[in-house]
Amino acid sequence: MALSLIHTDPEAARPMIAEIQRLKRERNAVILAHNYQYGEIQDIADFTGDSLGLSQKAASTDAEVIVFCGVHFMAETAAILSPQKTVLLPDLDAGCSLADSITAEQLRHWKAEHPNAAVVSYVNTTAAIKAESDYCCTSGNAERVIRAIPEDQEILFLPDMFLGSYLRHVTGRPMHIWSGECHVHAAITPTMVEQMRAANPDDDFLIHPECGCVSSTLYYLARGRISAENTHILSTEGMINHTGRNNASKFVVATEIGVLHRMRKAHPEKSFQPIDESILCRYMKMITLDKVLRSLEQNQHVVTVAPEIAERARVAIERMIAL
Ligand code: 13P
Ligand code: SF4
Repeated sequence: MALSLIHTDPEAARPMIAEIQRLKRERNAVILAHNYQYGEIQDIADFTGDSLGLSQKAASTDAEVIVFCGVHFMAETAAILSPQKTVLLPDLDAGCSLADSITAEQLRHWKAEHPNAAVVSYVNTTAAIKAESDYCCTSGNAERVIRAIPEDQEILFLPDMFLGSYLRHVTGRPMHIWSGECHVHAAITPTMVEQMRAANPDDDFLIHPECGCVSSTLYYLARGRISAENTHILSTEGMINHTGRNNASKFVVATEIGVLHRMRKAHPEKSFQPIDESILCRYMKMITLDKVLRSLEQNQHVVTVAPEIAERARVAIERMIAL
């Protein structure tokens, strides 16, 4: 298991890491990494976190260059928040199946059908979608964003249907929900959850709200078939924080396996197992040490957002950060 959290052989990694550190100082660069990155990428990063934490860091850093070890929409968000900085994405093919599930054209049609609705977009969307949105949110603050919208206003939530139905449940707000999904989290099925619960009844169970199993988990929780006491629906950062605060020593983690790296590093005395070892985002895993090195050496690949799109998208992102 530990092997799939690491991509580069430690011997081969050493000189690359030294060169990355040197270039980072020379170029006044900062490396930001998402919690789903390979272990060695998380280890060289100046900051590792969830989507919300990464946008906050991108907005506040003094560095001239941001090397974004994540996926394309995250680098776009950094470029929108820090237009005067150079934002580099080490592999331009690092996309997101969830962000690809809605186009700006489709969103404009949907808005035309509900002209008075507030549009809330999960952060996993393109800059063009954010520009058409009133609010942006992440899994860490989505509930707060929904609660901040006046009770009598209609809501269009996109693009993740599992996060949307989870929010509808916890806030009690009726919402129109786009039927997009992330291929990684949709693969986490109710059967997987039930089997793991049966095999590990005393473990703490950490579930990402994008998971395909969330609706059914909520259903089972409500009916007492799953113990609410040790089941927690959290963002990636929320999961990591939870393992530190909690007295529990054994955890089952239902999200992309990269998040186990920080958990195991911070709490070697505790046990963390993935819901399934195959839960892996191939886009997140496109970022490797050699690509990070090339990115700093050759200034590639610069991610920019057209000013007219960035200006409108920034309003939705800043509302999210402010909340
Ligand atoms: P968070 O890091 O916000 O929990 O989101 C997970 C994710 O799927 C990012 O692509
Ligand atoms: Fe997109 Fe899913 Fe990968 Fe996150 S895990 S980047 S939502 S495809």
